[in-house]
Amino acid sequence: MKTFSDPQKLQKWSEARRLAGARIALVPTMGALHEGHLSLIAAAKRRGADEIVVSVFVNPTQFGPKEDYAQYPRDHRADAAKCRRAGATAIFFPTPANMYAPDHSVWVVEDGALSDCLCGARRPGHFRGVCTVVAKLFNLVRPHLAVFGQKDFQQATIIRRMVRDLNFGIDIVVAPIVREPSGLARSSRNAYLSDAERANALALSQSLAALKPGSWAAQKRRTERYLAAHGLKVDYVEAVDAETLAPVKSVRKGVAVLLAAFDGKTRLIDNRLF
Ligand code: PAJ
Repeated sequence: MKTFSDPQKLQKWSEARRLAGARIALVPTMGALHEGHLSLIAAAKRRGADEIVVSVFVNPTQFGPKEDYAQYPRDHRADAAKCRRAGATAIFFPTPANMYAPDHSVWVVEDGALSDCLCGARRPGHFRGVCTVVAKLFNLVRPHLAVFGQKDFQQATIIRRMVRDLNFGIDIVVAPIVREPSGLARSSRNAYLSDAERANALALSQSLAALKPGSWAAQKRRTERYLAAHGLKVDYVEAVDAETLAPVKSVRKGVAVLLAAFDGKTRLIDNRLF
């Protein structure tokens, strides 16, 4: 497995591999890798990628000033070992300084149709940071395909739109949510949870599992009550059209139910696509 920290070196290598006929996959991550991330590498493998590049970068521009940028878990050595075992062929560990010039001034911004709601409404600037860093990674690697997780449903929807609207010509694969045996969606932020908070967190996946096709209003109220009864502070509980993210009144095929809640100080998200 190759290791890069210099963006130019990664770009040169990837260009040479593409010219040699390799099919290149990119798996963007912020590290503290878990089974969810590794499933994205497996998905790239199944799609016949010859080179699987995993980027590990805690991207400062997608964190709000009061968010967890400083404490976000970082363990490059463990991440490299996991990537190698999972079959990645290259790992990219840039630093903020080599990703962002001090006078960086060009951003990729979704104009609000998909990013003014849900997490975007609560985390101003978050998706601007995500779109910009993912566009930069796309330009560095120029992959044939890139793999994202359904865990971050709104992010995957916005990235698909960015690729369509800016003609990146990259196949976007969205892989299913990987869960712990308890049902808790795997997340690097689960490391923040105490035992009691971890037990409360199960309410997220449990309330999603209890949902049924049909009218949304009563199910939304029941879900909010269930989360609150388990000590979670609800950030949002929404049913939306999976493509447009517009709110819907009933749950049916093509609808995603998205949850965000604070478990102590930790903000957790989960979702279910019908
Ligand atoms: P991060 O939270 O590290 O997630 C990297 C990728 O792993 C995302 O596509 C995410 O949806 C996926 N993922 C996380 N947990 C998962 C799970 N339990 N099952 C399946 N997939 C899961 O998302 C980001 O980083 C960043 O915003 C990034 C796209 C790297 C841009 O900085």
